[in-house]
Amino acid sequence: MTNGTQTPAAYDGYYRKQVAAPDMMLCGVGRGTPGGEYLRRFWHPVAYLSELGELPLRIRALGEDLVAFRDGNGEVGVLHLHCCHRNTSLEFGIVEKRGIRCCYHGRLFAPDGTLLEIPGDPNAERLMCEVSQGGYPVHVFAGIVFAYMGPPERIPAFPMLDRFDIPGVELVPGVRFELECNWVQIKENVVDPHHTNILHTIPQRRGVEHFADEFEHFPELTFMETPAGAMYLAARRSGDNIWIRSAEFFGPNIHCISSIFEAGASPKDATPPFMTFWTLPVDDERSINFYISHVASEETMPFEKRRALEIFGQRDDRPYAERQYLPGDHEAQVGQGPINIIALEHLGTHDRGIVMFRRFVRQGIKAVSDGKDPKGFYMPEVDLPPTFANDRVVPVDAIGGSPNDPAVLVRVAEQVGRDYLQNPPMPILKADRSANAELPA
Ligand code: FES
Ligand SMILES: [Fe+2]
Repeated sequence: MTNGTQTPAAYDGYYRKQVAAPDMMLCGVGRGTPGGEYLRRFWHPVAYLSELGELPLRIRALGEDLVAFRDGNGEVGVLHLHCCHRNTSLEFGIVEKRGIRCCYHGRLFAPDGTLLEIPGDPNAERLMCEVSQGGYPVHVFAGIVFAYMGPPERIPAFPMLDRFDIPGVELVPGVRFELECNWVQIKENVVDPHHTNILHTIPQRRGVEHFADEFEHFPELTFMETPAGAMYLAARRSGDNIWIRSAEFFGPNIHCISSIFEAGASPKDATPPFMTFWTLPVDDERSINFYISHVASEETMPFEKRRALEIFGQRDDRPYAERQYLPGDHEAQVGQGPINIIALEHLGTHDRGIVMFRRFVRQGIKAVSDGKDPKGFYMPEVDLPPTFANDRVVPVDAIGGSPNDPAVLVRVAEQVGRDYLQNPPMPILKADRSANAELPA
């Protein structure tokens, strides 16, 4: 039913549609669903290595209950949670030198799921050839455990991005950011630059230090596809400079950002990476961001302070009243509901990145449904494309136009984006830092 008018009316609540179905074609993560099969073509973070100790770790990924452990040889296993004998949970298992032993009748499983022992069974040798525990290939990188839950005959290269080996930049594992919502709305946030100068400036407007003050100026925006996803470029004036900030998703589950403390104060071509995130779709209505901090040797902020500012607003760890007064990404994303109902949205001019992300995922889902590899899937490591999240700062007098003209700033952002696609920023940075002898490698 409508109110019979074309223009929005005041006090229109009674006529406004409030219920619609979520787009499960886009948002579903379970096994056998189109979205779930798509996601199963990529490496997903499942735990921090530091979480694997004497006891097994119960985890959930892509709607599957799993157990993760690190055996006495240092090998990490990610196996189906329920023991293949009589289905008890391996979260109660015993981590041993060569694998994990079920607490119930003592079957011992190697990290790859093969059976090593069936204590007391006279037919153990035969059974061990016939039965195994479901398991997934594992890759450990920068203190994060990743699992590949797709068809084992098509394991993609682990995406070793060009930003992981910058001279003088250390990779420090982060903490879990657990979010009670679908993974899609978390990733959409990455190519939603409009929110950085609203949501992330609420703290500074209310007297609390967080992002650099310069974020409060509305940037001029452009968005571009990249080989493995999309990036935005946001151009703002900062004193005598134009500061162009970019962030990107490397589809489907990685995103990269540059420093939240950048203020565009001095000209530069490329800046050290700041944070790289991998989002785990836990199930349809829960997700976890795992991340690394890229810590450059020249950073002056004490790491403890930086870490606290990274975490601020990303977890459900503050009193409700404080979360209302100083909301962060966690509040904004979970606030959209467990699965954001796209049919009830009314997108604006700056939401092009969100549209690009959804198109990227939908095309990937279709590709997998059609038996093809999705965009962002790379088997050989040499095919992995570069990344683009960066801060470029150029002097106002070098842009060939008025720094106060939005059209000029958009043009500058577009030029920088095109330049990145030809000359990615991380190799520039690597060359600069390799040449700089005083930076420790
Ligand atoms: S249920 Fe695991 S060994 Fe019996
Ligand atoms: Fe954000």
